[in-house]
Amino acid sequence: GQPQLHYREESLYLEDCQLADLAREHGTPLYVYSSGAMLDALAAYQRGFAGRRVQICYAMKANSSLAVLQLFAAHGCGFDIVSGGELARVLAAGGDPAKVIFSGVGKTRTEMRQALEAGIGCFNVESEAELEVLSEVAASMGLRAPVSIRVNPNVDPKTHPYISTGLKGNKFGIAHERTLATYQRASSLPGLRVVGIDCHIGSQITEETPFLDALERMLDLVAAVEAAGIAIHHIDFGGGLGIDYNGDTPPAADALWAKLLARLDARGYGDRQLMIEPGRSLVGNAGVCLTEVLYLKPGEQKNFCVVDAAMNDLPRPAMYQAYHAIVPLEHVPEGRGHAVYDVVGPVCESGDWLGRDRDLAVAAGDLLAVLSTGAYCSAMGSTYNSRPRPAEVLVSGSHAEIIRNRESVADLLRNERLPATHP
Ligand code: LLP
Repeated sequence: GQPQLHYREESLYLEDCQLADLAREHGTPLYVYSSGAMLDALAAYQRGFAGRRVQICYAMKANSSLAVLQLFAAHGCGFDIVSGGELARVLAAGGDPAKVIFSGVGKTRTEMRQALEAGIGCFNVESEAELEVLSEVAASMGLRAPVSIRVNPNVDPKTHPYISTGLKGNKFGIAHERTLATYQRASSLPGLRVVGIDCHIGSQITEETPFLDALERMLDLVAAVEAAGIAIHHIDFGGGLGIDYNGDTPPAADALWAKLLARLDARGYGDRQLMIEPGRSLVGNAGVCLTEVLYLKPGEQKNFCVVDAAMNDLPRPAMYQAYHAIVPLEHVPEGRGHAVYDVVGPVCESGDWLGRDRDLAVAAGDLLAVLSTGAYCSAMGSTYNSRPRPAEVLVSGSHAEIIRNRESVADLLRNERLPATHP
């Protein structure tokens, strides 16, 4: 379920803000996030790490709104970035570049240079070819780039194939058996300084076993690399902890880390500097997407509930057949009939659905909330069908503030040019 979300007299609230009021004031579709829910999620990790040396680097790809970054930066987080654009966002939000780690298989020379200029904490290098280029770029600036090698522990996270990343057939990380050779190469290059080791095995992981297995394999690698005389200052376990979308029961962050830390202690690595890169588990259950019912379209095989949010605003159902609960914002009048609907958007594709086979008592004009949409929803949105992006609101107690203006059609056209000469 979603903390901070509750009905009061049959009207849905996020913290102390009435969502129907926000929808009427700012229009729909509208994303609303709870800062309290984000900070509670962060606190679970912080509790788990009390007394340890741990840097939490929020994987900002999950939700990169400046206001969200500012909130996490103010509470001690660093950031896991994957592009020069994300680095610019961290800097714009007042984040500390020294607490930034840079992941991803395709960093360009330009991005490497920007990150070195900003003084980021670590590059998580994903291939031998990338090592060579990074060394060259750093050396040309008279610098040594701090690096971790992202290793591939070959653990099955048992999640959707599109979001599992630690298996052998994935494009991510360095194969187990190449790890030592890659570290030896890294420590011989003039533009690099080896600082750590990194892994990330997948996302929306709801069991603890894959994390424990990955930890054991990581520690085997740390032992092998250090035996070869290369010091590993920090161990980065990536992100991946899942959330409850539909009765899922992931371990709590503090409980999971109690177990992982016990294993670290047992193997003598308990005082090592640690890093983690959680994304979804910090923000996923802090957000809702508000939408208005446009039309009901009963049919012989299916009933459709057409709403004003679509796959461009909220792509996870279309992309991963992901489940997001859909609930009414306000009291349903007595005696109104129920039916089973596919909740669909206005985009011209059959894949444009937000929920399938949902039992709803709806009428045109009703407001609905699509739940658990704080992570990888707005962030993955597009303007397909020339649909401007929704506005976003951050709430804290009874205070609600716009953190992103609704995009305008003029915004969409801004960078386009009609050719001066045309047939
Ligand atoms: N670190 C690295 C290197 C990653 O690639 C990711 C996510 C994370 C950390 C954060 O993982 P999290 O804690 O959020 O699971 N769009 C998909 C999820 C893609 C995840 C990509 N990598 C979805 O909507 O389910």
